[in-house]
Amino acid sequence: MSGTGRVVLGITGASGAIYGVRALHRVAAAFDEVYAVISPPAAIVLKQELGLTVDPDRPTAASLGLPLLPNVRFLGHRDFLTPPASGSFRHEGMLIAPCSMGTVGRIAHGVSDDLITRAADVALKERRKLVLLIRESPLSLVHLRNLVAVTEAGAIVLPASPSFYFEQTTVEDLVDGVVRRALQCLGAPVPDAREWGV
Ligand SMILES: Cc1cc2nc3c(=O)[nH]c(=O)nc-3n(C[C@H](O)[C@H](O)[C@H](O)COP(=O)(O)O)c2cc1C
Repeated sequence: MSGTGRVVLGITGASGAIYGVRALHRVAAAFDEVYAVISPPAAIVLKQELGLTVDPDRPTAASLGLPLLPNVRFLGHRDFLTPPASGSFRHEGMLIAPCSMGTVGRIAHGVSDDLITRAADVALKERRKLVLLIRESPLSLVHLRNLVAVTEAGAIVLPASPSFYFEQTTVEDLVDGVVRRALQCLGAPVPDAREWGV
């Protein structure tokens, strides 16, 4: 661990569940404390895409196919009695990966009906970093307007759109490239990030 404080991670029900799993692994390495929340639709996509059975009320690192992560505290998706639900809880930022258009829409309109959208709402009102690793294609006018709204409110919209110019060879390389950018947006040190032309 690098002594970079706390971060909140939300995993929602967009395609690309692998982004959520890789993001959790990497934020656990980059931050002192991680508060992780998984939405019920995310659990469905985790099953569909990765064959993982995850209980959104009681997620575990093992159920996500990860080793024990002692600095990760998993929170129930509707548990508003947990730290990220309150602005009094200080943290470095929040990442939602992958982030569905449903979650973008709820954040854009202040609908804090689960812990992920409440924590995002708190991050915006407290002027903390909020990084949304979005995935949908194509985008409707509704999606685009909601993406503008969250950007105007202070969020960073990071499309799950890998770059191909660093000679990545595997899906994992491409996914990790996007996740590294997400960590950089959160202000985390990313020692293995590559820089063009350097
Ligand atoms: C296999 C699967 C893939 C999906 N992919 C996407 C997607 O890429 N983007 C998206 O916005 N919604 C996607 N959805 C729909 C969302 O899961 C759905 O809108 C859900 O209500 C989102 O809720 P959440 O944001 O609370 O997780 C997908 C659903 C399933 C079952």
